Amino acid sequence: MLRAPRRLPCPPRRAASTGPGPGRRLLLSTPIFYANGPPHIGHLYSALLADALHRYRGLRGAGPGRLSTGTDEHGLKIQQAAAAAGTSPPELCERVSGLFRQALTQAAVSFTDFIRTSEPRHQRAVCHFWGALRDSGALYKGCYEGWYCTPEECFLPESQLAERRDAQGRPCKVSLETGHQVHWTKEENYMFRLSAFRGPLRDWLRDNPQAIAPEPFYRRVLRWLEEEDLPDLSVSRERSRLPWGIPVPSDPTQTIYVWVDALVNYLSVVGYPEGHGQWWPAARHVVGKDILKFHAVYWPALLMAAGLAPPERILVHSHWTVRGQKMSKSLGNVVDPAASMDHYTVDGFRYFLLRQGVPERDCDYYEEKVVKLVNSELADALGGLLNRSTAPSINPSNTYPSFSEACFPKLSDHREANGPGRACAEDYELVASVASLPLQVAAYFEGFQIYKALERVALCVRQSNGFFQRHKPWKLDRTDPGEQRWLDTVLHVTLECLRVYGTLLQPVTPHAAHRLLSRLAVGPEERGLSALTFLPRYHGKPSPFEGRQLGPDTGLLFPRLEMPRRTRADTKELRSPTNGCCK
Ligand code: ME8
Ligand code: MG
Repeated sequence: MLRAPRRLPCPPRRAASTGPGPGRRLLLSTPIFYANGPPHIGHLYSALLADALHRYRGLRGAGPGRLSTGTDEHGLKIQQAAAAAGTSPPELCERVSGLFRQALTQAAVSFTDFIRTSEPRHQRAVCHFWGALRDSGALYKGCYEGWYCTPEECFLPESQLAERRDAQGRPCKVSLETGHQVHWTKEENYMFRLSAFRGPLRDWLRDNPQAIAPEPFYRRVLRWLEEEDLPDLSVSRERSRLPWGIPVPSDPTQTIYVWVDALVNYLSVVGYPEGHGQWWPAARHVVGKDILKFHAVYWPALLMAAGLAPPERILVHSHWTVRGQKMSKSLGNVVDPAASMDHYTVDGFRYFLLRQGVPERDCDYYEEKVVKLVNSELADALGGLLNRSTAPSINPSNTYPSFSEACFPKLSDHREANGPGRACAEDYELVASVASLPLQVAAYFEGFQIYKALERVALCVRQSNGFFQRHKPWKLDRTDPGEQRWLDTVLHVTLECLRVYGTLLQPVTPHAAHRLLSRLAVGPEERGLSALTFLPRYHGKPSPFEGRQLGPDTGLLFPRLEMPRRTRADTKELRSPTNGCCK
């Protein structure tokens, strides 16, 4: 007989300090990465999305923010990987955790917290969390059996399994979604009363339509809650089989389930069980679609059971394939982020992943695409425009040129006065596009559509190139004062556009944006969004930049990339695998 829960389920609570407005704290998180193998571009993508959001908040001058990341070090998967590598779990984790820290640092991911689940501060938090679950009546001991998928670290129901044959030709069962083999497991475990949370989870989602984004994932979770079984969850394993993990407090024969352990990392980083009230539940988790159920169903239910509110938002992204195939070690097509950043530059690679990655759907990676995109949008369009508009031949004084209201009158004045203005209809369209860009970008960042924000920026960069090309400032006669005024105005408008792009690109291409803004003589305190008033002179207001000496670095903003040399061979290998490992 199951014991009735003592105080289950409890309604989610929200801290008063977490409403919208300036000065609000926010914890952004990446998933913590399994320390069983080196980082790949999928991991990097998760981290870059979170980093861009975190950096964008900083640009807005929003309240204190943290960006947490780290490594997930316990569980059967790690235990087995260590055994296979002929090493101990702590040694494997130490090494792989270091690789993740290094890759994220190289990628300029501005994390404020790096947590390893093997750290004492985390173990303390997990034990306390377990105590809160137990005290609320959410746990009971039961015999559990089912198909366990070690790579996913979870039990799977029959509906998610398929029949296959293993390497020796024997029949076996595999996960439908990932193709990984599952193994029948039967043990006495602690169980979590997940089934009691169907209603509260549904209420939470209905009351918070923004809680999971993009929208298709929100609907997917609601559908799970409405249509699928929600059986209780096994939350421990026999310690004799799984010694590598945190023991259940007061029952050393059991190890805490690695997913419960891992999810609590989001609380450990903010000091749970002591200081977390300052931050929780103002948390936004960036996660891949494969771990949506853990974050959008199990985690909120566990939190509610422990007397805490669910996180504010879960931001979900899809997966990268490589030349149309799933990335896998056996196919030999795993893309190494460090080598990619070495080749395409850190900013080039960040720009590619964030510009081409669409959270709603899987995206395909191949080298030609990176080279083409980065060359056309960063090297040619953006870098070329900076280079051409600051060239000594058209701007020998190397100063921020002045704007002439007579050459570029405000639209209404122009129409009425039909004066000497030289700007044409498309020029006014450009000004309108760039003026509205910061707000559009803001809306796209808030809606977790960073790729759309970048698409808008790229569009405006193209428009600015059109403007420059249309007026051919290099052909204007600088000895004629009227022409010189118009020349300066064309340059002023172009640099103003570039200043907006540089400012808005900081969360995505921090180094190139820094170079661009420095070249335009934009001071460190002038790089936030509050200082971003585009083309004030057009509105009759003074410009703090006009007449300023431009920055000294006249180097290329962005180098043109070449195809990596090994690509042809790689492609051939992919088309005709000869080593037989994927049979
Ligand atoms: O799941 N494309 O860790 P992980 C894009 N430890 N993203 C991908 C991807 C791909 N091809 N492959 C993986 C875990 N990812 C747990 C998380 S959090 C409390 C515990 C993403 O190392 C994946 O979706 O297997 C996930 O968001 C992240 O990489 C870490 O995956
Ligand atoms: Mg995974």
